Amino acid sequence: MKNYLSISDIDDLSEWVKEARILKSQPRADKHLGANKTICLLFFNNSLRTRLSTQKAAMNLGMEVMVMNFGSEGWALEYGDGTVMNQNTSEHIKEAAQVVSQYCDIVAIRAFPSLTDKEQDEAEVVLNGFRKYAGIPIVNMESSVGHPLQALADAITLDENNTKERPKVVLSWAPHPKALPHAVANSFVDMMQKQDADFIITHPQGYELNEAITKNVTIQYDQRKALENADFVYVKNWSSYTDYGKVLNQDPDWMMTKEKLGSAKFMHCLPVRRNVVVEDAVLDSDQSLVIEQANNRTYSAQIVLKKILENL
Ligand code: CP
Repeated sequence: MKNYLSISDIDDLSEWVKEARILKSQPRADKHLGANKTICLLFFNNSLRTRLSTQKAAMNLGMEVMVMNFGSEGWALEYGDGTVMNQNTSEHIKEAAQVVSQYCDIVAIRAFPSLTDKEQDEAEVVLNGFRKYAGIPIVNMESSVGHPLQALADAITLDENNTKERPKVVLSWAPHPKALPHAVANSFVDMMQKQDADFIITHPQGYELNEAITKNVTIQYDQRKALENADFVYVKNWSSYTDYGKVLNQDPDWMMTKEKLGSAKFMHCLPVRRNVVVEDAVLDSDQSLVIEQANNRTYSAQIVLKKILENL
């Protein structure tokens, strides 16, 4: 594998999950693989889990790690071809990507969408700019469109906690005061479409995700109906996709409660706003898998880096 940009880069999800669970049981077994190799983590946006778990994964593989908060500490990048750079941007992606690639063997990037310009966001200029000009493997640590390291960690968590042949998994929208990206939901949907599960999405009208991603997934606008007999409930807010980046609804009735959850397991990628997205009683119960999900971020990153290192 050369790059890990989306869930479609996984050739066999169940095999990867199996391998990740083996890595989890002996995290330092492959520490020779990354010897004399360096990974550079570039953050254009904030992070807790992605930053630390990806570093941990790289260290487990014996790699050197360099981290840069590019968004706040790097030069403002230009992405357009032929732009006269007499405004606010100081460095072109062409030079920046080639320079970074001289310092490391793999580059991992986090770059969120603006949520104001759908076309520009979907062009994924940061990720694709590095892919085009860096010439070394690229890992997506959450881009405009996807968060495939999170979705792979979620697949590991589902596998570890599932007791049924075909579990019912519900992706439920929840309210949030701010406009949030679609990336986590998109990659979770991509990942669930590779699973044998009864998978349903529930959200208010106007919060339909990109139809090219949801394809044939059932959408149920009645949250309570969607939650009936659920085994796993993955809760996430996202802003409107059709009315791009807008917050159309903050109805607290969509918050996940213990009563609505029933006996299902609760999942969320974190960070989460307590008593807005989900009530304390859920997060503080043993039905919550959020800490396990965060732990599995290390092993999703580690299986990805291992596969890239094996091909370097
Ligand atoms: N879930 C996740 O990606 O967390 P961070 O934004 O803290 O990295």
